[in-house]
Amino acid sequence: MIVKRVHVEEAVIDGESLDWPVLLEAAEAAARATTGRGRVADYIPALATADPEAFGMAVATVDGELYGVGDWEQPFSIQSVSKLFSLALALAHSRDGGDALWRGVGREPSGNPFNSLVQLETEHGIPRNPFINAGALVVTDRLQSLTGDASGAVREFLRHESGNPLLDTDPVIAASEAEHGHRNAALAHFIASHGNLENPVETVLDHYYAHCAVAASCRDLVLAGSFLARYGVRTDGTRLMSRSEAKRVNAVLLTCGTYDAAGEFAFRVGLPGKSGVGGGILAVLPGRAAVCAWGPRLDQAGNSVAAVTALDTLTTLSGCSVF
Ligand code: DON
Repeated sequence: MIVKRVHVEEAVIDGESLDWPVLLEAAEAAARATTGRGRVADYIPALATADPEAFGMAVATVDGELYGVGDWEQPFSIQSVSKLFSLALALAHSRDGGDALWRGVGREPSGNPFNSLVQLETEHGIPRNPFINAGALVVTDRLQSLTGDASGAVREFLRHESGNPLLDTDPVIAASEAEHGHRNAALAHFIASHGNLENPVETVLDHYYAHCAVAASCRDLVLAGSFLARYGVRTDGTRLMSRSEAKRVNAVLLTCGTYDAAGEFAFRVGLPGKSGVGGGILAVLPGRAAVCAWGPRLDQAGNSVAAVTALDTLTTLSGCSVF
């Protein structure tokens, strides 16, 4: 035990040369100590089959190093983590710097649960931000207009960046969500009633469910998310988006990526991050690394208890955050 403490302290002395394996080990230990806290999502019935005690975590550095602990190579349902990629791709495909997109969706924290309907009426069908379900539906709609295959665009990007050709939508999860998708259907119809969807509601919902139901591992997600740590540059060295756009995506992740717990997440973790009800959280250390943690038990806001704890431990021990 004492030996381990010494290692951790050595790993974090200056924040410049981090000992990622030691940090990951410490983060895993903290996450595993949360066993029993939180609940696996079951409002999408097929998600309830996840092993509540699973835990994995991975880091991909901007220099191409890759580290992982626990179940870091096990695929899980990425759910709302996919919204980070749909937003990035919609912006990358936009020819106007995203101006049209940002007219259809705001970029302010909602202070409401991710599936809330209440703000949409008073705000005339313009969702608060791209990460609550309402906003993500608008982003999926615009990505569909821009590419003709919104979920395919997300899937292809994830496959390309992760180098994992097997990465795919889990059709059982997608069908389960569609079958129980009354809230998302209500949101989409309400947005459409305000003229803020360009495609048929059914098309938007199908693509939204399909990108949420992608199964990917912490390994896949850190590689796919590392363009945000490289200020917009993909794993093959080509640019997906400008440095300024990458800053904007990171800013919206920080303020809105964990819903009505975004303040608490910034307070504890201090990184831009996106959570999903499958229990994954993908976070960004700009200029340094992408980090993903996964554990299926969720807190009240729909964020993974184990993943938040692991990321909190990592940034606290290393002293590395955006602050
Ligand atoms: O639309 C939904 O409810 C899910 N497909 C995604 C929600 C989600 O992951 C929220 N994140 N914590």
